[in-house]
Amino acid sequence: MRTDTEHTIYLKDYSPSAYTIESVVLDVRIAPETTRVRAQLTIVPAANTPRGTPLILDGEDLRLEDIAVDGAPLVQLAYAADENGLTLVEPPNRRFVLETLVAIEPEANTRLMGLYRSNGVWCTQCEPEGFRRITYYLDRPDVLATFKVTMSADEELAPVLLANGNLIDKGSLGDGKHYAVWEDPFPKPSYLFALVAGDLASISDSFTTASGRKVDLAIYCEHGKQDQCHWAMDSLKRSMAWDEKRFDREYDLDVFNIVAVSDFNFGAMENKGLNIFNDKLVFARPETATDADYENIERVIAHEYFHNWTGNRITCRDWFQLCLKEGLTVYRDQEFTSDERSRAVKRISDVMKLRSAQFPEDGGPLAHPARPDNYREINNFYTPTVYDKGAEIVRMLATLLGEDGFKKGMDLYFERHDGEATTIEAFLACFAEANDTDLDQFKTWYEQAGTPRIEINEQFDADAHTYTLTLRQNTPPTPGQPDKAALVVPVRFGLLGPNGAEIGYERVTGAEARDDVIVLDKPEVEVVFHGVANRPVPSLLRGFSAPAILETGLSEQDRLFLARHDSDAFNRWQAIQDIGERLVVASVNGESVSDEATEALTQAMAETLAHETLDDAFKALALNLPDEAQIARAIGKSVDPSAIRASRQSLLKQVFGPLADRLEAKYEALTSEAPYTPDAAQSGRRDLRNRLLSLLATVSTKGPELAHRQYQAAKNMTDRFAALAAATLAWTEEAPSLLAEFRTTYAGDPLVFDKWLAVNARAPDDSVVSRLQAILSDPSFPKNNPNRMRALVGSFAMANPAQFTRPDGAGFRFVTGAVLDMDKRNPQVAARLLTGFRTWPMLEDSRQQAALAALHGLRDSGALSRNTNDILTRILD
Ligand code: PHE
Ligand code: ZN
Repeated sequence: MRTDTEHTIYLKDYSPSAYTIESVVLDVRIAPETTRVRAQLTIVPAANTPRGTPLILDGEDLRLEDIAVDGAPLVQLAYAADENGLTLVEPPNRRFVLETLVAIEPEANTRLMGLYRSNGVWCTQCEPEGFRRITYYLDRPDVLATFKVTMSADEELAPVLLANGNLIDKGSLGDGKHYAVWEDPFPKPSYLFALVAGDLASISDSFTTASGRKVDLAIYCEHGKQDQCHWAMDSLKRSMAWDEKRFDREYDLDVFNIVAVSDFNFGAMENKGLNIFNDKLVFARPETATDADYENIERVIAHEYFHNWTGNRITCRDWFQLCLKEGLTVYRDQEFTSDERSRAVKRISDVMKLRSAQFPEDGGPLAHPARPDNYREINNFYTPTVYDKGAEIVRMLATLLGEDGFKKGMDLYFERHDGEATTIEAFLACFAEANDTDLDQFKTWYEQAGTPRIEINEQFDADAHTYTLTLRQNTPPTPGQPDKAALVVPVRFGLLGPNGAEIGYERVTGAEARDDVIVLDKPEVEVVFHGVANRPVPSLLRGFSAPAILETGLSEQDRLFLARHDSDAFNRWQAIQDIGERLVVASVNGESVSDEATEALTQAMAETLAHETLDDAFKALALNLPDEAQIARAIGKSVDPSAIRASRQSLLKQVFGPLADRLEAKYEALTSEAPYTPDAAQSGRRDLRNRLLSLLATVSTKGPELAHRQYQAAKNMTDRFAALAAATLAWTEEAPSLLAEFRTTYAGDPLVFDKWLAVNARAPDDSVVSRLQAILSDPSFPKNNPNRMRALVGSFAMANPAQFTRPDGAGFRFVTGAVLDMDKRNPQVAARLLTGFRTWPMLEDSRQQAALAALHGLRDSGALSRNTNDILTRILD
């Protein structure tokens, strides 16, 4: 295994390819053990390419068996093949056809990049650099070619043969073999290539586009699972209709296929016309999938479908531009979910996710800009920063330009760049031109890592009737970026009068305020509101209008006022969370927390619970204290996760204990006999009921019994799993027996097994590490499967802070041990598991020492993959 960590690629070194590939004709002969791929690449030198410039094709784990140029076999000296690829020493100085034949071994491919076999099914994963493991190629996103693919295989092993585009021919080859020919008329980069061959079942449907073209839709899966694909199909049709309505984007091929596979490194992949999915993001039925699973499936189906325009028709020039397609497409899927469900609830959930996944990345050793300017291993840049901060940046653009201005920019982007591989600069230029504005400073969001802090000061002048807000921004240094520039921060706001309604004012002077948005584009700006008779309570960063940390210095009284009156649901939720956060932080710091303070929060929670118009899903999010990781971030340094857990648990009891009867009454009142549907209203109701159960399990003596009862009575997985989680996370007496029962009941379903693994991994008791170790050491544990490993090891590292960071180091060593073992087979998944360590510098000293010991142990344990080495080096730097 190579360990070349020195090789860094820089954005500034980008140059177009000396050769382009116009068209690709592939003949893929699929067979157990050895598959052979014959490729005919029509290659053209770029206009300015000097004669004799070598052609360097990428290739990895390929065995070259034959090579010819324009039909003539190449002599030994004319080419060189090594472990990185194939070089033609002096290619023709004109259009020519390079033909190669390679042998590959999909069954031995445990990295799950290129062509591999999952559960008997041959499938591919090519983004970002997997196509080079199928054939020699210019494996970079700015080389766009049309593809025609002939595939053949044993008729019994692989009755289904799929590739990108439209099916143009199929037939029998005799000898038990058959073939299919697929043609994709849209030029595409190699990372969007896909093929699938296997014995698969399917469901089918169709969608008629706005312009009246009928598209055949199908979802393929292992036999017997067809009945679990209907929600995914329904989500697909709704996504197609939404993209037409909201962005005027129609689908462009005659077929759209989705295939569910059980071994997959990520969630899903947007290959042109042939999306390949991790099966956990396809399969759903009420007995085995939770409401959260249903929502996730809907979101990811939409995401991959939306890539057809933002990603496929318009793709990335190079991998530094990854957030051009990912940030934008996440923004689009967030908008889809907001339109299909509750916008406020979606926004709160997305911000919680941003804070729990992206903020720690941005504030630690793995911080990088949404558009990085260098990388050693691109696979390590499919990160929360690229995806989720990338989406926040697009959202800010929409906030700053307004709905119409944003739409104009998107329209220009689609029109101008269709069929191209482009850049962030080109994207921003469309919005700037369409709105006749300048986005030069705005671009800093893409180039600068770190989460800005925004500090607010307010001043009310009763005589002058002016109310002044001073806003300051500051972004802390990140690795390689010691000095930070001022960003353009849109701060959406409202000013609340004494009765809770928005106040009016005569005029505004000072900084730019567009309607309800203050533009903070300098280190400090001041806004003066004139004609204000009483001090208003400011509601700032409404809807979380920028990915920043807001420090307002508002009093507890003001926050309670916002919690009660803010018309912005996000800030209403935020106000309650802020009150809780301060109480837990004070208690961790050993400061005394007054009874009045906790009573006031109890009162606010009681009002929220009883509120007549707030939706159930909102209440479920509000009736909680910030989680342990959020408290750790608020404290920021010398963090002791066990102390945080202890303080938080005790505050939960103080705040919610007095409400136990009301929580229970509401819990009972929410019981429903209605048949299961996954819609927002019904799932919101379950959310709230299950939130109450989890509170009761912690604060009431009746809780454990209720959890037990709900577990037994549950008619769907949402309620059953919520009961199991409530018992496990409170580590009630029944927890071990419920865990055992759940394991046996669902023994045959790998996706339910993942739920069991993940909830085990989050258990708070001191034996959790040894239990997890025992699970992992069982010889029958499927250690090659990414979902299983992520559920067990990933959940532990990311969601069990107190046990992961145990001062004796057992939690850390469990994770580094698993990473070391996984790294031998699947470096991408191993590297991702290791990112659980990204917050170690925040910990108190003894835990830091224990983390370092485990990380040094990993470093000293021999050859690591480039993926894992890259993460390890950056975490330790
Ligand atoms: N491009 C995929 C998505 O976001 C993610 C992915 C990356 C999947 C790399 C597989 C490999 O939709
Ligand atoms: Zn994506």
